[in-house]
Amino acid sequence: MGSLYKVLTHLDLENIVNEQQAFSLDVLVGLSEKPKRLSSRYFYDDRGSELFAQIMDLPEYYLTKCEFNVLKRNRKEIEALLTDGKFNLVELGAGDGRKTSILIENFLNHNLKFKYIPIDISEAAMKNLIETMNEKFPSLHTDGIVAEYFNGLKWLGNVNAEKSLVLFLGSNLGNFNKPQSRVFLRNLWNTLNDGDLLITGFDLKKDIDVMRRAYNDSRGITSEFNLNLLRRINRELGGNFDLNKFRHFASYDVFSGAMESYLVSLERQTVYIEAVSQNFFFEAWEPIHTEYSYKYLESDIRSLAETTGFTIEKQLYDSRKYFIDSVWRVQKITPDK
Ligand code: AVJ
Repeated sequence: MGSLYKVLTHLDLENIVNEQQAFSLDVLVGLSEKPKRLSSRYFYDDRGSELFAQIMDLPEYYLTKCEFNVLKRNRKEIEALLTDGKFNLVELGAGDGRKTSILIENFLNHNLKFKYIPIDISEAAMKNLIETMNEKFPSLHTDGIVAEYFNGLKWLGNVNAEKSLVLFLGSNLGNFNKPQSRVFLRNLWNTLNDGDLLITGFDLKKDIDVMRRAYNDSRGITSEFNLNLLRRINRELGGNFDLNKFRHFASYDVFSGAMESYLVSLERQTVYIEAVSQNFFFEAWEPIHTEYSYKYLESDIRSLAETTGFTIEKQLYDSRKYFIDSVWRVQKITPDK
């Protein structure tokens, strides 16, 4: 049961045009820079989303397994936070809903009163998710919102006054650096009400080889995922990248605290991109930076919460302490001194 809501901003058509313009502008600016860079936010076209789903199933990609373990071990703890009546289970970037199903199943078994409200920009992904959840949980009420996260949350705040538990799982925050993370979290804080809950996934700093293997898998799926960015530029912006002339490379930078991904040009070459009417010249072995996947210390997590207006309710770990789902409460009313 449930519905699909498309939240259209009043200039939706213009936004679609702008989406394409933003992509070509980012590509133009990023490839004109030295060192060259492209943003990981453009990984997720349909093929990129499918490749990421395959990454989550890789034995080396421990993040997903760990978070499953976190949610399984701690579902009672999470349930215990939701004692006062009806609430919305809001999810930002739900994917196939497999992780969330652990919580949903437990909530349903204990007769909690809630609606599941996934928010995602991809309508195709949302339709799949709603279908899956309706099949898996016939008694669950799912209202899917197709929108950008903050537009979706604002719209939800206007039509619905229930308490919210917002899920932002999978270490998706890890693509942002510290200032970007603060902006994102504070925006979230702004759209939520005092007392609402947020669960964010953080991948912890750990054995460097474990992290490196997760981004250099033996089947080459991560390589495909990274190279797909060039394929997307070819398709959407009329580029002529030869994918065989670039290789995936990922390494851990102990100072930035991030796994960083690159595409390295294997030879001297020129690439033309129609949408920006420009040639881009690559020297042999010249890199393009494509992704930061930040890893955290517990003190980083505490500092992010404190500086953005949240209090930490619980730190939920997997059995190996590789990953944390951190439970935060929105604090808007400052307690009396
Ligand atoms: C979806 C951003 C959490 O950074 O680990 C997987 C994406 N990149 N393998 C991550 C990704 C390479 C992933 N996140």
